[in-house]
Order: sequence, then structure tokens, then C-alpha cells
Amino acid sequence: MCGIVGFIGSRPAVPVLMEGLRRLEYRGYDSAGVATLINGAIDRRRAVGKVSSLQELLDRQPLEGTIGIGHTRWATHGSPSELNAHPHANERVALVHNGIIENHQLLRAELEAKGHVFTSQTDSEVIAHLVSDLLDRQFSPQNAVAAALKRLEGVFAIVLVFAGRHDLVIGAKRGSPLAVGVGDGEMYLGSDALALAHLTDRIIYLEEGDWVEVSCQGCVVHDVNDQPVVRQMQHTAFSGALIGKGDYRHYMLKEICEQPMAIGETLSSLVDPVNAQVVLPELPFDLATVSRFTFCACGTAFLAAAVAKYWFEQLARQPVEIDIASEFRYREAPMPNGGVGVFVSQSGETIDTLSALRYVRTQGQPVLSIVNVPESAIARESDCVLPTLAGPEIGVASTKAFTTQLTVLACLALAVARTRKTTSPEELERLTLALISLPKLIDDTLLIDGAVRNVAASLAGSRDALYLGRGSLYPIAMEGALKLKELTYIHAEGYAAGEMKHGPIALIDEQMPVIVCAPVGPLFEKTAANVQEVLARGGRIILVSDRVGIEKIGRDAEAVIEVPPADNFIAPMVYSIPVQLLAYHTAVFKGTDVDQPRNLAKSVTVE
Ligand code: G6P
Repeated sequence: MCGIVGFIGSRPAVPVLMEGLRRLEYRGYDSAGVATLINGAIDRRRAVGKVSSLQELLDRQPLEGTIGIGHTRWATHGSPSELNAHPHANERVALVHNGIIENHQLLRAELEAKGHVFTSQTDSEVIAHLVSDLLDRQFSPQNAVAAALKRLEGVFAIVLVFAGRHDLVIGAKRGSPLAVGVGDGEMYLGSDALALAHLTDRIIYLEEGDWVEVSCQGCVVHDVNDQPVVRQMQHTAFSGALIGKGDYRHYMLKEICEQPMAIGETLSSLVDPVNAQVVLPELPFDLATVSRFTFCACGTAFLAAAVAKYWFEQLARQPVEIDIASEFRYREAPMPNGGVGVFVSQSGETIDTLSALRYVRTQGQPVLSIVNVPESAIARESDCVLPTLAGPEIGVASTKAFTTQLTVLACLALAVARTRKTTSPEELERLTLALISLPKLIDDTLLIDGAVRNVAASLAGSRDALYLGRGSLYPIAMEGALKLKELTYIHAEGYAAGEMKHGPIALIDEQMPVIVCAPVGPLFEKTAANVQEVLARGGRIILVSDRVGIEKIGRDAEAVIEVPPADNFIAPMVYSIPVQLLAYHTAVFKGTDVDQPRNLAKSVTVE
């Protein structure tokens, strides 16, 4: 996590750095800071809290200079204090860092023994001291960084400026993302291309172990062996307009409303509407002979995989394993021959997912990824990528990335079912047509906004909430609970409706709202019975269902949210909308920070 930027040019650096930091704030917002060179000397401003706090400080105490670095922090080592805020600097060097230096204690002890005085509790500060120690020993900045990199263990992206060197910024990447932006007479560095989208669409992605010398005129990239290498410049599709908030109050609401378009875009990349058939790009494995898919992801992306398990098993009779990446990566799971690893990630940078992917590769299995950022590490390290075409997602709570992940996974499930001949052609066509109907259906579903807002008003005062669902709606119940807790700080649990009686039922009383996702379908009557169990114990039912479902069991509910009737296959996408909106409006009622909930970050590049 953490966002880092760098700038070198002939205009004031701070406005450029600050705009980059605002765009990177999704990566963390515990503190922020910038450093520049003024007449050769390093100066910096740092503030606890969001980038806006740093801006207020800069308004009071401006910082000049045409070269500089910036950082927005998600705290790992050391509390979010000003002393722990980046840039870390001494008289010789200033540095911003994203990642974790695993051997920092050892290095710190060594440097302290040499007389270096540390001012923060961070692991990052050791890099600044390590480099300045080498500069003291007459190393050039380039040689000092190259030598320091060899001492560092862990994952990182760093950017440094050097006292007296107005002509040089150095960046380095190992594990954490770092991109170089190419301008006209000026150059940029940033954690991702999005941070630089307002400046340039010409991007050079660094590879693992690379470090780069950047001047106003261009850059020289060195590989892990310090040899100069050429990394191709790419043109990104991001434009400044794409990442504005538009007329929406929050990014999250904008992104919720963009789902019909995002799903439509994603579908059109995978579905032939004339023949009502899924058409996948060429894959480096034969779908017909895959013995098992292993799905791995984190957070909301994991819940997309959890939905997919139902589809793959029911429609394609395909064995599927799902796991959260942080557990999978250390479990040393045996990977049977003929298996395929599938990795789902919005950012494509989540370190646990990336590490799980690398493990699967070492086991000789092909790797397919479903990512939203095509230039990301997970995309680059995969054998093939099925992109979600959601466009940039800025709100920390994932919405349109989730439903587009579901869309891709649904297409993949249909393709596997066709190949394995486990579902009839007529049924496959019907299901594909259901998928094609999704953009319109989601558009219609968004009309529930007002109804959801009314329910949210009553939910805002709750301390706890329980979400229930069955079958492919069980992961949606978990997603609803995850969204509610991350946005509103209300404790929430998502449970399989049938499992409620094995524990959570003990929590049911007149205070406890129970949000039930119950589309009419094969499991409806079962869920209806669970609703009765809650009602019998005085629980408050908030029923999310279609008209028929509400007619059948809505009478005793405290509130109902009516969504359009949807085929059971695509119900997970449709029911994602009410649970997203419920969390969103409850957060607005509570006055919590919708787009940047406390302690969270969008891109999790630490373990
Ligand atoms: C963080 C984000 C979540 C996201 C998860 C996985 O926790 O806040 O919204 O689902 O990481 O991220 P990924 O980029 O791999 O989908």
C-alpha cells in the first residue's frame, strides 16, 4: 500500500506531486508528505491524516522547488504520526517508500552503531540512512542506491532525491508497483499510471529488481544486475476525465451507478450476441481436460470466486477449490496434474494474491487471471488474462470491479460447461441471454435507491447486523456484511441461511437487523423457513427479494427491498446492488468516510 510520486521538471513540483497524491490516496491515507530541493537543500512538509491536511499545511508553509517526491501512507511499522510520515530525509537524501523492509531491524542496529540517528519507528527510514551512509563514503547517488538495494530484503518501491542534485531522481522496484511517466521536458514517477494520468499517457513499467535514473530529459533503467536495459514505453488508456467524481457525491456512488456500463463492456468482450455464445480468447490450456480450477483472491474478489464455485460445480460439473490468498500461499497445497490456477483481483497488485499465483506457477500449473488493471503485476505474471472492463475504481470499497468479476467468471463457467457438455445447448443459450440482459437489469435495479435509503436510515443506529443467503447468494450475503462493516463500522456477519441455527441465531433479538437475500428460485422456500426462525425470535427482517418473494414472505418483515425478478444464474449480480447501496446509504447517514473508510486501503501490497 502507500502511494508514491516523483517529479522532475522546470515548473513548481509541489502542485504536480499533490495532484498525484490525491489520485493515489486510495492506497492509504494515514499521513502524507512531500520533499523538494531548494537551492540544493532538501526541505519537506509532512502531515498526519489525508492529503487535504498536507495541502492545508502547504498553504500555510509553501514549498518551492522543481524536483520532488511525495507519499501517502498506510501505516505498517509505526503509528500514523508526523515523525513516521514520509518522506524520510537527512541532509543528503530524501526518500519515499511503499512496501516492507523485512531486515530493517538488523540494518537499523548496524547503522545506529555507526552513529546514524533515527527519528521514526518506520522500516523505511533505514533505506535513507543506508543510502546516505554510502554517499558519505563517496559513492555516487546511482552507486549508493544500487549498493543499498542489495542489502534490502522484502518488497518495496522507492523514490529518492539527493541534496545538490537538481538533475536526478532515482526510483527502484521490487515487489511493489512503480511506473515512470514520460513528459515533454519533465518526467514523473508514480505507484501507478492512474496517478500520472493527468500528466501523461506515456508510461514505462519497471520490472522486478529494476532501478531507474530519471532526469528532465528522460530515464535510464537498470536491471537487477545494474545493467542498463530498455523497457518499452506504453500508451495507457487512462484519461483525466475517467477518474473524476462527476456530479456524484462520492466515488462509490458513481461506481455503483456505472455498473450497467461496466458489465456491458465486459460482456461485449466475451459474448457473441448474435449466436448467444461465450467466446473466450485462446487459452494456454484445454478447457475440456482441466482436472480442477483453484480460485484464489482476497476481500471482495474472493467473494466473486466464491459465487463462481456454485456456477462451475452446478453448470460445468467442474471441481473447483476456492481460497483466500493469504492462507493459500503458506498452505503448500498439493496441485494435482491438469489443474489451473485462477487469480481474481481488481488492482492486480495484492501481494498475497500475487504470491499465491507465484506458488501455483512453481507447481507447474497454468495461471489465468481476472484483473481490472491490465498492466498490473498479476496480469503480467499470468499465462492469460480475462480483463474486467470496469475502468478505474477509486472508492476503496469495491463495487463495479466485483460485478464485472462475476460477469467474467459467469462467462468462463458457461464456456467450461459447453466444452464439457454438462449443460444442454438450449440451456446454455438461455443462460447467455440472461447474461446479455444484465446491463438493462442492473439499470432497473438501481431504481431501488430511494427504497434502500429509507431502510438505511433504520440500519444506521444498529450495533450489529446479520446477512443471510443461500447458494450463490451466500457469498453475496458475505459481501453485504463486508461492505457494511468496512463503510459504517457496524459489526456485520454474512452467513449461509441454513447455518444460522448453528450459532448466529443466539444473537437474534429485537435489536438485531437480519438482511435476507432471497430471490425466488430453487432455494427460496428453504430461506423462507429461516426467515420464520428469525421472526419467531423477535428478529428484525429486512427482506431483499423480487415481487413474488415479497408477496410470499414480506408481510412480517420490518422492511422490504424489491429488486426486479432475475434468473437464478445472474441473481448474484442483481442482489449485489441492494447490498452495495445499503452499505453506502447507511455510511452516509452515519457520516463516515464513504470513499476512504478508516484503516483500509484499496491496494494491499503488504502481507
Ligand atoms: C482491499 C480492498 C478490497 C479488495 C481487496 C482485494 O481490501 O479494500 O476492496 O477487494 O483489497 O483487492 P484486489 O485489488 O486484489 O481485488
